[in-house]
Amino acid sequence: MYKTHNCGELRSSHIGQQVTLAGWVHRHRDHGGVTFIDLRDRSGLVQIVANPANPNLSVIQDARSEWVLQVTGLVRRRPEGAENPSLPTGEVEVDLSEVVVLNPSKPLPFLVNKDEDTDENVRLKYRYLDLRHERMQRNLVLRHKVVKFMRDYLDRQGFIEVETPMLFKTTPEGARDYLVPSRVHPGCFYALPQSPQQLKQLLMVAGVERYFQIARCFRDEDLRGDRQPEFTQLDLEMSFVQRDDVLDLMEGLFTEMLPAVAPHKRLFSSPWPRLSYQEAMDRYGSDKPDLRFEMELYDLSDIFAHSGFMVFQNVLRSGGVVKCIVAPGCAAFTRKEVDELTGLAREQGAKGLATLALTAEGIKGTAQKQITAEEAQQVSARCGAQPGDLILFIADTKAVANKTLGALRLHFRDRLALADLSMMAFAWVLDFPMFEWSEEDKKWDAAHHPFTMPRMEDLDKFDTDPGAILSDAYDMVCNGYEMASGSIRIHRRDIQLKVFQMLGLQDTEIQQKFGHMLEAFEYGCPPHGGIAPGIDRLVMLLADEPNIREVIAFPKNQAARDLMADAPSMAAEKQLKELHIRVQMPE
Ligand code: AMO
Ligand code: AMP
Repeated sequence: MYKTHNCGELRSSHIGQQVTLAGWVHRHRDHGGVTFIDLRDRSGLVQIVANPANPNLSVIQDARSEWVLQVTGLVRRRPEGAENPSLPTGEVEVDLSEVVVLNPSKPLPFLVNKDEDTDENVRLKYRYLDLRHERMQRNLVLRHKVVKFMRDYLDRQGFIEVETPMLFKTTPEGARDYLVPSRVHPGCFYALPQSPQQLKQLLMVAGVERYFQIARCFRDEDLRGDRQPEFTQLDLEMSFVQRDDVLDLMEGLFTEMLPAVAPHKRLFSSPWPRLSYQEAMDRYGSDKPDLRFEMELYDLSDIFAHSGFMVFQNVLRSGGVVKCIVAPGCAAFTRKEVDELTGLAREQGAKGLATLALTAEGIKGTAQKQITAEEAQQVSARCGAQPGDLILFIADTKAVANKTLGALRLHFRDRLALADLSMMAFAWVLDFPMFEWSEEDKKWDAAHHPFTMPRMEDLDKFDTDPGAILSDAYDMVCNGYEMASGSIRIHRRDIQLKVFQMLGLQDTEIQQKFGHMLEAFEYGCPPHGGIAPGIDRLVMLLADEPNIREVIAFPKNQAARDLMADAPSMAAEKQLKELHIRVQMPE
């Protein structure tokens, strides 16, 4: 080893010891001929001091930021008044005797030792420098701890980790596939898995009973702060279980994990709340509600059934709803602020936003004239609005009203800092619809994925009312994010076939894409179910990071590019030829 100790581990107990350290120059200062260096390695940093009399003074004086040095010296107590209580090594320093420059560094594109706002594109281009930052090192360690905890916990519960292939066949999870051309089978392509869904089910047919995998998934979809084209799931599957067995296992895992990996975080409630999909939509306007704060949505349709407010009347007559949320203490919002909220509402598809402000001088707001004092009284009573509050109304279809008020609710969460940042508000969302109608394609889509079991009691609705079929799917949500999805699976060939047909697949296509699944179901497939939490999203929340790129060592940018290696890039003509591929560039 180039070193006897790590920089960050030196304490007063090391005083008097000769140590050799190796690391990067974090900071460099000269004070009247005395040179100070903060030397950094993964464990932290320690101060190195070279006196004017030191024969190596010129070497250490020349060293610049991020040079790699090996230093030898005596650990001693810092002079009185020079201690640094905010640094774990702040009681001591190393009196330099020898120094070797292991490697110099060019001037850096950005400083590693400063918390400044470096442009993210520059950070991603020099990711290996960005990762030297303490915050990024902390995130990598946290991620390691999370994954290790999961592995150990599931091992104790009798699960085994099985690797499944990356080169496989299309596995629908609602995104586009990344395809890999085959050289030996001209014109044929593998698909990278959008998830190991089919393979883990086949492992259940294989009698594995309890499987998990830290699984890389690939999805070609529009990127957001919580989405990457490749990401990692804790993928798991169990045989002979019902829904609550899977939920209980997950709740146990996450409840035990939190204090072990992120002691600064607390569970908001235990046991975790369980909401039906419909309840989540109606009360919070989202299928991934943030439960750290209340601000629920209220349905006021009955109060306004005979309202003289034409906007409300028309919506209610055509089968819509009038709903509201209450923004606490916002009665004094200016016209401009209300206009901005109206803009937000319009972005969500609402036609307008009506407000009532409960001020000391009486009721104000855009709907002051149209809403009677009695109606206002009833509304306030229903939603518990207090003087000083602002009530926001949306009249629209139920779906638009929920979505819009759900978005406004999150807007106020951030604006008024309503959510306790130390809380992890895990909850279960249950009873999802099995199918969603796609206006674009004019056909039914699987709300979760096509392998999800419809409710047995809803099987007769396939021909009459597919939209009313509920499934045995469940989502684990936390702080407004979907953390995991799962379901009890179809294990019967006849039901699986019915679902594929419902999704508009023709028999030949079913055979081509999923023949192997249907056949496997005929050889003693056990009842089974599972779930897959997204590890990137989980670590993002535990690390208080605003997006998942901060917890992935080498992420893609928003345009799905790796800026460091410049991928994707053009392939050589020879390679394309071997793959039997001709590129046709877009116009
Ligand atoms: P689903 O598609 O809901 O379910 O994915 C499960 C979880 O994976 C995470 N996730 C993502 N994270 C980062 N970037 C993405 N692009 C991305 N897409 C999904 C989310 C999500 O909740 N096979 C099923 C699971 C099952 O039924 O067992 C599946 O993949 O946290
Ligand atoms: P109007 O009668 O069109 O002038 O609208 C009166 C108020 O109702 C205005 O503040 C509009 O922004 C608001 N409004 C219009 N449509 C809706 C709607 N669908 N839901 C809630 N408020 C609305």
